[in-house]
Amino acid sequence: MRTMAASRLVRNPHVDRARVPPADDAARAFHASLPGFSPTPIRAAPGVAARLGVARVLVKDESQRMGMPSFKILGASWAAYRAILATLGREPGPAPSLAEARDAVAADGRTLTLVAATDGNHGRAVARVARLLGLPAVVLVPAGTAASRIEGIASEGAEVRVVDGNYDDTIAASAALADGTHVVIDDTSWPGYTDIPGWVIDGYSTMVGEVVAAVAAGEVPEPTVVAGQIGVGALSAAIARGFAGRSARLLVGVEPTEAACVTGSALAGRIVTVPAEGTTCMAGLNCGTPSEIAFESNLRGYDCFVTVDDLWAEEAVRLLHADGIDAGESGAAGLAGLLAEREALGLGAGDVVLVFLTERPTDPVNFRRIIGG
Ligand SMILES: Cc1ncc(COP(=O)(O)O)c(C=O)c1O
Repeated sequence: MRTMAASRLVRNPHVDRARVPPADDAARAFHASLPGFSPTPIRAAPGVAARLGVARVLVKDESQRMGMPSFKILGASWAAYRAILATLGREPGPAPSLAEARDAVAADGRTLTLVAATDGNHGRAVARVARLLGLPAVVLVPAGTAASRIEGIASEGAEVRVVDGNYDDTIAASAALADGTHVVIDDTSWPGYTDIPGWVIDGYSTMVGEVVAAVAAGEVPEPTVVAGQIGVGALSAAIARGFAGRSARLLVGVEPTEAACVTGSALAGRIVTVPAEGTTCMAGLNCGTPSEIAFESNLRGYDCFVTVDDLWAEEAVRLLHADGIDAGESGAAGLAGLLAEREALGLGAGDVVLVFLTERPTDPVNFRRIIGG
């Protein structure tokens, strides 16, 4: 067992925040129409702030978004709505809502099945959207996915299939299911599959926009340092689009050491695939290939990238817990990167740090071990 927590800070030679496209907030009104929707809270984490040596830590808490364990329903719902209308050859109406998609399916007469590849959260969100629409869902997960995560997806009524391979293999298996009645809602993109994952990013912009609105309303100070954790990079693209044009002095992207595909691609200046065969506890970030359409925002938007070992994620989970905030390992990963490279990043008493708690504990066994319960 490793007892030393390793990390690495990579300064991004390609950063050019003026080249990051602006956020598209078309999904906001749609989200507001969803059952149980409300903006999520921004919490204070004074113990974490003391540990980082900064003035404030703001935690955008996505652990209960619409009763789901993560923020992913924002991307899944908007992408499913847009994809269903596109499949049926319809344009979005003036007041987008799930009812509109449901009516369009009923009028068409075809039974559409929503398909998604996932390492947990995205698939569960797609399954929930399918249930809200009264449609079947098939969700593919990589081998080794925690039983609790599979149960979570199945609890939404989806058929779960375990693919004998890693996340990239699971994505390929989902793509192979696409036909006239199977609508694939994946959160990553590849050549020829860009619209739907683009809508996923736009969906995440609702979350980033809530922070910007809270700053504008004077509820929280403007962040000087913003951290975003990275799997395929859709979430971090939305964060970059929301914050690249603001005054934060540092945007920091954080990845697991063993699945640092965006960091590796940024160093190469082009998309590369890394093995990602490991079993990092940051399961939501265990991706080997960056999303193509997110890459430019990540490449231009982030001042630096930090790669962290699992022990840093565990430390972040423990510190948040001490501040009364329970996070899953992927959910705490942004903070993990800041903890690991606090000095090299030059964090100090003048900083207001923003992190996104993107997931509540979804592997309860590991969570209890981490917090020592
Ligand atoms: C909890 C959590 N945080 C962050 C991410 C990263 O999102 P993305 O894959 O868009 O980079 C994921 C992705 O699954 C996730 O589940």
